[in-house]
Formats: sequence, C-alpha cells, structure tokens
Amino acid sequence: METLLVNNILQMKEINKNWKKSDTIVGLVPTMGALHNGHASLIKKAKEMCNKVVVSIFVNPIQFGPNEDYDKYPRSIEKDKILCNELGVDVIFSPTPIEMYGENVILSNNELSFVCPPYSIVDCMCGKSRPGHFDGVATVVTKLFNIVKPDYAFFGQKDAQQLFIIKKFVKDLNMDVKIIPCPIIRDVDGLALSSRNTYLSENERKIALTIPKSLKEIKNLYLSGIIDTGILFDTAISILDKNIELDYLEFRDFNTFKKVDKVKENTLVAIAAKVGKTRLIDNEIL
Ligand code: PAF
Repeated sequence: METLLVNNILQMKEINKNWKKSDTIVGLVPTMGALHNGHASLIKKAKEMCNKVVVSIFVNPIQFGPNEDYDKYPRSIEKDKILCNELGVDVIFSPTPIEMYGENVILSNNELSFVCPPYSIVDCMCGKSRPGHFDGVATVVTKLFNIVKPDYAFFGQKDAQQLFIIKKFVKDLNMDVKIIPCPIIRDVDGLALSSRNTYLSENERKIALTIPKSLKEIKNLYLSGIIDTGILFDTAISILDKNIELDYLEFRDFNTFKKVDKVKENTLVAIAAKVGKTRLIDNEIL
C-alpha cells in the first residue's frame, strides 16, 4: 500500500479511530522532515513494534527562535515521501502551520496554550541558548500525541535533552504513550546524522568531525579509568578544532539529568557547538 499523505487534523483523527476499532498498535515517528538514515532507523523500529506507522513531518515554527533557521530549514517532502513509501510507512501526517496553530497564533504566540516542562531541565544546555525551544517542542509533541494517539512514539538519542524532557512530561501528565529511545546513527566518517549537516561545506564538515572525535576520546579515557570531568573536559577541548564555537560540553547523569563531577556508567556527555553558522549537537553515554 502506498503511503497516504494527510494534511488535515480531522482526517488523521478519523484514520486513527478506524485503526483503533481493531486493536491496532499505532507507532508515531515525529520529524521535521528532510529525512535521513537516522529517521529511517526510527521508522524501522516502529515497523517492528507496531501494526500501523505514522511519520509526522512538520517544521514547527514555535520551537525556533527569531534569529534561528526556521525559514531555511531543509524541506524535501517529495524525497521524504519516497523514503516513507520504501519503508512501508502507512501515513505521513504533514499539516501546515495554520492547520496546527491557526492564523492568529502564527502572527503571535501569545494566544497559544503551551506545555511547559520544568524550568530546571529546559533552562540548561540547549535551552540556555535557545530560550523557549523546549516549550515549543513539548507543545507540538503533545499536539501530535493528541492528534495521532500513538501507542508508541520513537525519538533519537542524539537529542538527549529533548528525549529526557519528553519522557518527563509524558510521565508527569499521565499520557498514554510509551516513548522508545533509539540509538544515534552516524555517517561512515563518524558525524552524527542530522538534517542540519546539509548546511556544512566540505571544510566545515572536516571541522565538525572533531566533535565525535572528542567524545570518543572521552569514552576511551573513561574506559582507561579516568573519571574526573575536569580532565575529560580539557582533553575534549584540546581535540576540538579551534574554529569550533563551543556552546557547552557537559557531563550529566543520564537518568536524572543532574550534573556530575565524576563520571560513571550511564553518564551522558553532551556537546553543542557551532561550526560556521551551523549549530550541531552530539553525545555519548558512558
Ligand atoms: O526532533 C525533532 O525533529 C523535533 O524537535 C520534533 C520532536 C519533531 C518536534 O518538532
């Protein structure tokens, strides 16, 4: 069966109602499109676990700051449709911003109800340099859950903070959806796959490769017995290309998201950095 493209919220809800008449297990893979092998791995996992798979493709305006890349974010719905078809996706849900938020909200966010996860986890790391970003993510993900009503939703571990926040509000707000984290997928050269990698020039890509290289070195040092975050931080800095503008390199407990001084099993090492104008994130769980 060809993947069905749905732009309308009511139609998506009707489809779900029909599926649910026969106890169908529904999986949702939320994306902003420009699909790559990282997304493909989420879709494959969803296909393994669910009878019906929905991929949402929506570049969500309310999670971008005024000076961020909302307008130039890559959009490739025709290519995305081909991939979804090949992978056996049942429905692509791809609403317009007006369908999702109405005309007024597009003019001003002041009229929209937001889902706001706790300040302590949205105001650090990526949230510090992207104020309002995670409220925008939490709000759109909640709306997608309410529209698609999935039993399972699949998210990549590359966005570790996003994943933690989503798990938190799903638990806090008693949502009936199980969140399935999926591992980071890397290119052969080691760069974590991201739709934003398309912004990088050849030279910038070489510079960007020092990000996974520094994470790998931290892991090697940890495995050789070094647990002091100061030493691990300094080593990473010495590996990162000097043209990289580091936003943060942090060591946090993967389960609580609290900062740690000494690393141990399950410590998340997360990095965000700008290469030229492109902001990249990556991480490693020790
Ligand atoms: O990770 C993303 O692509 C987006 O933040 C998400 C979860 C689809 C919400 O817009």
